[in-house]
Amino acid sequence: MHSFPIFLSFDRKPPLVVGGGELAAVKARLLLKRARSVDLSAAEGELAPELALLVAAGLVTVLAPKPGTAELRGRPLVISATEDDAEDARVAAIARALGVPVNVPDRPELCSFALPAIVDRGQVTVAIGTSGTAPVLAQRLRAWLERELHPRLDAVAKLAAEFRERVAERLPAGPSRRHFWEGVFDGPAARAALDGDESGARRLLGEAIERASAAGPAKGRVLLVGAGPGDPELLTLKAVRALKSADVILYDHLVGMSVLEYARREAELIPVGKSKGDHSVPQEAINALMVERAEAGQTVVRLKGGDPLIFGRGGEELAALRESGIEVEVIPGITASVAAAASLQIPLTHRDISHTVTFVSGHAAGGEEPSFEHLDLSALAGGQNTLVIYMGVSTASVVAAKLIAAGWQSDCPVMAVENVSRSNERRVATTLAELAAYPERLGLASPAVLLFGKVAGLEAAGAVDRVLSLPELRRAYA
Ligand SMILES: C[S@@+](CC[C@H](N)C(=O)[O-])C[C@H]1O[C@@H](n2cnc3c(N)ncnc32)[C@H](O)[C@@H]1O
Repeated sequence: MHSFPIFLSFDRKPPLVVGGGELAAVKARLLLKRARSVDLSAAEGELAPELALLVAAGLVTVLAPKPGTAELRGRPLVISATEDDAEDARVAAIARALGVPVNVPDRPELCSFALPAIVDRGQVTVAIGTSGTAPVLAQRLRAWLERELHPRLDAVAKLAAEFRERVAERLPAGPSRRHFWEGVFDGPAARAALDGDESGARRLLGEAIERASAAGPAKGRVLLVGAGPGDPELLTLKAVRALKSADVILYDHLVGMSVLEYARREAELIPVGKSKGDHSVPQEAINALMVERAEAGQTVVRLKGGDPLIFGRGGEELAALRESGIEVEVIPGITASVAAAASLQIPLTHRDISHTVTFVSGHAAGGEEPSFEHLDLSALAGGQNTLVIYMGVSTASVVAAKLIAAGWQSDCPVMAVENVSRSNERRVATTLAELAAYPERLGLASPAVLLFGKVAGLEAAGAVDRVLSLPELRRAYA
């Protein structure tokens, strides 16, 4: 079962711990990190020493043991830690019937909630849960977060709380205010708070508010971001930061869902998917949408598969944005062929067998078949070049025939890679002649890149489907 994390408030009624032993003491101590007081159902004469101390300090109030409906009703939560199976089951049953959240240590079948591993920084709490599957993993995550999170993080939260109202009065809600706070948490006021310089932090934050309100509403901007070929681990750190800062994300159909997991939760996600023959949102409409949102002060992420400036109409988008005077930044991504080379462990250049790499579109701008009229294929036929074809699945055989006609060796190796970096990545090796004559034997599906040249014949890492030539097939079946 997957559980949903929430943070409970203990303002109305104290939580209730049932039991008077060591286990109950541990749970009461945990709750007292956030609750002003805890009620305890236990026999007063049989309290563990720690509980007795907490009672003496006025932090724990003892109620009669064996609580019933009246004691459980309206509790924010109940922990039954009597270490008596029957009694814990009885308490859990009443709590569940009343709809009161209940936990019984080490009895998940009786629990309606699990206690998370907690990293505590005062106002800032990080709760880690594994839906009961891996408590040791939760502990490891906690240890890691303990190291990563500044011990004085609470000071930053307190500073924000102190200035929250003043910021709300001075800066309009929406992107302006959000960007302001993002700047604060990355800026000198937060650093001063972390360094323990409380008055410095207040002064710096006050100055930042003055500056921001004098500057007027935040200007929107567009980030053209490369999402890489699909595996989110191939995103750059800058791309992740952009996704986390976006108000709106316009994404292409080649961008995998796992990449969008890195988006800010509140970001508006707009698919503007473009695949061959399916221009669901025309380019002009995409340009207009980016301009409109940026002019409204939003941070717009235009998320494109691979690299935004390789066969992605990124140039047209840049021109439209510049023409409208919109601030724009380009964040590069790993283009499909470079990711394919890495996955195959095949170099695109090689000092002995390939001195150039040419990226070519398998489609002409408006039509189906590429004319290659601007490309001197015969100049590249010398056997020392690598040709990479994008968007070439349906025209692969035409491309191969044109290369042969331009003087490329018919036994030149070809490697096609589908769905590079994704769980369904597939590689197929063949030759120019086979591809020209029998393209269907590759069983190629989009998206795929095709590598042509000697490097494509080098030994690849991982499984490769091989399309045997007809002479090879004849030999195999002789
Ligand atoms: C419109 S282009 C975009 C290229 C993209 N900007 C890049 O740098 O990879 C689309 C083509 O990129 C290639 N492509 C994109 N992602 C791919 C992937 N994960 N696996 C294989 N090819 C991919 C395919 O050739 C596809 O037809």
